[in-house]
Amino acid sequence: MQISPSILSADFANLESELQRISNADWAHVDVMDGHFVPNLTLGLPVVEALAKVSPIPLDCHLMIEDPDRWAPRYAEAGGSSVTFHVEAAHDPREVARSIRAAGARSGMALKPGTAFPPYEALLPELDMVLVMTVEPGFGGQSFMADQMPKVAQVREAVRRHGGEVWIQVDGGVSATTIEQCAEAGADVFVAGSAVYGADDAARAVDELRELATR
Ligand code: DX5
Ligand code: ZN
Repeated sequence: MQISPSILSADFANLESELQRISNADWAHVDVMDGHFVPNLTLGLPVVEALAKVSPIPLDCHLMIEDPDRWAPRYAEAGGSSVTFHVEAAHDPREVARSIRAAGARSGMALKPGTAFPPYEALLPELDMVLVMTVEPGFGGQSFMADQMPKVAQVREAVRRHGGEVWIQVDGGVSATTIEQCAEAGADVFVAGSAVYGADDAARAVDELRELATR
């Protein structure tokens, strides 16, 4: 069970110290938004490169951008240890996944709430992680969509059938009240933005979430 706090809810003027606050987490989740694939704009390659140099933990880059075919491997080269692209934006998802691995990172494929998993099941051998979004991508602090749990279970079942180790990540509205149902459905990597950075003691929030997911 791994916790990946989203720095989308951190203080963007002090990202280095905000990363230090979560140094007990497994990953730092970096939401890259381009203002086109989602109606919000955050940060890009130069910032990821700078964060990779100072982060005490590996970067888990979630690309909410158009044309991941072109850009995804660049985020691996910039220092992302895991790079997740949205399948809805990819021209050739298999090639994107391969190019991320070729650039030295773990490859992740994300599904928006309205995107079904079965059409992409055949890509599992190219993937290290599947991200099941539990909100519409674009903003932190939205409410958790419990109706995505059957999709998590469906991906878990497919991973079991295919064999190999593919992590299942949930992202959006994950908190102390929603994390247990995610774990029960089969998720093993949990992104939490407001639940971690909104807490007075972010490191403690990370430990509490991990404990809830594990029991
Ligand atoms: C939403 C982002 C999430 C977001 C989660 O598009 O992908 O990573 O930061 O924030 P919370 O945990 O507050 O829903
Ligand atoms: Zn995210």
